[in-house]
This record gives sequence, C-alpha cells and structure tokens, in this order.
Amino acid sequence: MKKHKKKIIVANIKMNLLSVLERDNYLKSLEGEIKKGGFDDVEVIFCPPSVYLESFSKTLKGKKVFVGAQNIHWEKKGTFTGEISAPMVKGINATHVIIGHSERRHGLGEDNEMVNRKLKAALEEGITPIFCFGETRNERDLGATKDVITKQIIEGLGDISPMKLSKIIFAYEPVWAISAGPGMPSVVPNSNEIMELRILVKKIITEKYGASRAEEIRITYGGSVNANILKPTCLDSGMDGALVGGESLIPLKFMELARMLNK
Ligand code: 13P
Repeated sequence: MKKHKKKIIVANIKMNLLSVLERDNYLKSLEGEIKKGGFDDVEVIFCPPSVYLESFSKTLKGKKVFVGAQNIHWEKKGTFTGEISAPMVKGINATHVIIGHSERRHGLGEDNEMVNRKLKAALEEGITPIFCFGETRNERDLGATKDVITKQIIEGLGDISPMKLSKIIFAYEPVWAISAGPGMPSVVPNSNEIMELRILVKKIITEKYGASRAEEIRITYGGSVNANILKPTCLDSGMDGALVGGESLIPLKFMELARMLNK
C-alpha cells in the first residue's frame, strides 16, 4: 500500500520580527491560531531567526508544530564567527533546517558543495533538511532551467546515501517568483509549470537513486504563496506543500494556509 504522505508547510520568517515585543506578539497570536486546530494532517514548521530559535522552541513545545533554523554551518563547532551548527540546533529541540535558500546562494555565495556539506551535517544530527533549489529569471529566459535544477540537485545531494533521501524535504523555489517584500507584486509559475518541475525532480532522483526512492521524496513549492495561489501552485501541481515567506509573518494568515493544505 502506498504510504500516506503528510503535506508540509514551512514558515520562513527570514530576517523579520525586529524586537522581543514583536516576537512575543507573534508567538501569542500563533498560540491562539494553533488552539483553533484544523491542521492535524500537515507538518507545520516555523523557521525564525536564529536568536529566536530557543524561545520559539520553548513556547511551541508539545503544540504539534515544529521549529527549524534558517541555516547551519557544516562543521559541528569551532572558529566560525557568526555561525550556528547542527548540534546547537538539535540541542534546543529544533527539528528542521532550511538549506541552500536562494537568498544565501545568490546573496552570500553559497554554492552546491557547501549545500551538500550542510545537508550531510543536518542528516548526521537527525535534523530534517529543507533543501532549496530553483532557477533565476535570467536562467529561465535562457532556457537553462532544467540544467540549473539538475546541477543543484545532483551536486547538492552528492554522496548522500539512498537511505537518507526520504529524510530530506525538497523545496522548489523559482528565484523570480519569490516576493521582494510584503505587498510587492509578484509573478508566479502556473500549476502546469510547477508540475513539470516536479516531474523533472522525480526524474533526476530516479536516475540517481531509482524509482522507489523517487516515489518516497516530498517536494514543496515556494514563491509568493498566499491563500489565492496555494491551490494551483501547491496542490493542483501535485506538490507536497509550501515554503512560505511573506505570508508567514501573520500567524492568522499562515495557519489558514496550513488548514487549506489539511483538506
Ligand atoms: P515569499 O513567500 O515571500 O515569496 O518567500 C518565499 C521564500 O523565499 C520562502 O523560503
């Protein structure tokens, strides 16, 4: 029998919630939303800035949602100023980590080899990596989407063993569809374009690891997701859920998306 896969929704809070007051208001509002329920069949993950990981983890403990980091270093400890490591994330009971986000790839020079090391560091610690990949507008216009995605996935996974594959959440985020900020206009791919991409990812995984491994993996979509586009981008396209930036800043709106995925 085919294993039932839970849908996934990730709140990538990015570099937001600027004060302790703002953070506490967010958590208070979120606790209220969690109490309303309606998301039992969805894996809901909150990725706050690293300074708030511990408070999110403590406040949300036992509340059927997960907490994740937005990044880790591949080393466990040492002379890496400004970095946090997988054991630290695990130590405060966070369970997930976003890896290879385009804002790190393009803004901070993170390459596929670094992504590979980070994926392995997370897996080694038993933390679920949310592995991001996606093409830029320019790459898409040049017809290079397939090659870019293939390279990101093949080099990102590197020598990761087939056994570990189902522990990774794959996240397709076309860079051109990511919103520049709340209320900014954005262009998003249609459900067929996302479905094609999903098929491409499955093909890449099938070639590298075989069809049954490809069957197991979960792939989410990210880029300007809100209540109006959740259905075409994340459900009609056959995706397994959503990675949400801007709309995750308002718990009421974000948890509504989680409930929509639950249906
Ligand atoms: P937006 O939902 O704001 O477009 O952000 C997407 C994203 O980058 C999530 O990781």
